[in-house]
Order: sequence, then structure tokens, then C-alpha cells
Amino acid sequence: MKDASSNASAKRAAGEAAAELVSDRMVVGLGTGSTVAWTIKRLGERVREEGLDFYGVPTSFQAEELAIESNISLTSLNQHPVLDLAIDGADQVSWDLMAIKGGGAAHTQEKVVSCSARAFVIVADQSKFVERLSWPVPVEVLPFAAKLAGRLLEEMGGRPVLRLGRMKDGPVITDNGNFVMDVDFGIIEDPRSIAARISPIPGVVEHGIFDNLDELYLAREDGVERIKRR
Ligand code: A5P
Repeated sequence: MKDASSNASAKRAAGEAAAELVSDRMVVGLGTGSTVAWTIKRLGERVREEGLDFYGVPTSFQAEELAIESNISLTSLNQHPVLDLAIDGADQVSWDLMAIKGGGAAHTQEKVVSCSARAFVIVADQSKFVERLSWPVPVEVLPFAAKLAGRLLEEMGGRPVLRLGRMKDGPVITDNGNFVMDVDFGIIEDPRSIAARISPIPGVVEHGIFDNLDELYLAREDGVERIKRR
């Protein structure tokens, strides 16, 4: 079992390595979470040190704040509908480059941004890399539809739990004003089929199963391995 500090340094290694993918005049999706935060900070350093000239599109309030703090110029999908690259973290990634995201409740924007990009890169430490996905799937739902969505997710064989706030009574509210349910499906044999059954549930905004990864930057004991989609 890894300790928290080695996890932290692995997150940093993966995050910083992916910052080298960005070059002048690119428009880049900036993901959410503690791993890609290192990418954003390193990009800020490159702006200061090398005059790197690119635009970022943040995927959350957190990513936007960090990008502003790092002096990264920001744009929007309205101004730049097609991005060169999106970089983000994940909660779990399998060997065939399927991922579960949304531990920070930002997966809806993360999916929109990553699907707007020509290339999507995930940064992660080794603890996230698994044979088969099993992380509870975050599902963003309209508050009005929460009971119906919960019932239909249970009928699918999932165990939905409404995500509750910390230092706040009641549910987590996403940047879009919705609820998140974490739905435990156990080991997920076929993530695309689960995804296809969640999407049409009335009131579901987006689920956290991602099948659009092009590359994984995986921090291992002996360095960062790049795993490309075959
Ligand atoms: C945000 O909603 C998530 O998809 C994050 O990208 C994911 O939880 C990874 O976060 P960490 O890098 O903090 O583990």
C-alpha cells in the first residue's frame, strides 16, 4: 500500500509530464482534480519562464480559479469550439483506456470539453490503474429527477447513493446546479453497455464513464509511462 506522500509525488510527476504536450497557439481543455492541478501549475510556470502562448478552457470553477492564479489566458467553447487537446485526471482507468471520472463532480463539463478536443490525455498515478473498472459511477441528475433516476438506476442493478456535501448539510450541488449520485455496479464487465443504459434515463445530465481517451500518462515507481490507445 502506497502512502499519501508517494501518491502525491506520483500525481505531480504525471501531471507535470503532460504539460509538455502543450505548445504555442494551442487551445487546451484544463481538467479538474489534484493530479491535473499539477499540469495547470506547470503550464503557468511555462507561461512565465518560456512565454508559452496558449489558451485554456477550464472544466470547473476549481480549474478556472487555478488557471487564473497561474496566469493562463482563458477562452470558452463558444469562442473555440474545437480544442487541440484536453488534459484531465480520472478516478479509475482500465488497461483498455476506459475511465471513470467525476469524483470532483465535474464530469459533465469534463466530458463536453474532452469531446471537443482532437486529443484527450488522462494523467494518473498507478493506484488508479485497474484491470476492470469498479469505481462507483458518478451520475449528474436534475434535482427534480433524482427519485426517478435513483429508482431506474437500481432497476439496472446499480446501488445509487446521493453524494452529500462536506461542511454543508444536504447534497453536493454541481457547478451546473444539479445533484450527483454515485452508483455502485460492482465490477463493470462492459462499461459501454452500462453507459448506454444510463444516458437515456430521464433527468440524467451525464455519467462519468469515459471511452474517449487517446492516451494515459501513468506515473509508476520508475517514471511516467505513456499508454496510447491502439
Ligand atoms: C473531477 O470531477 C474528476 O473527474 C477528477 O478528474 C478525478 O476525480 C481525478 O481527481 P484526482 O486527480 O484529484 O484524483
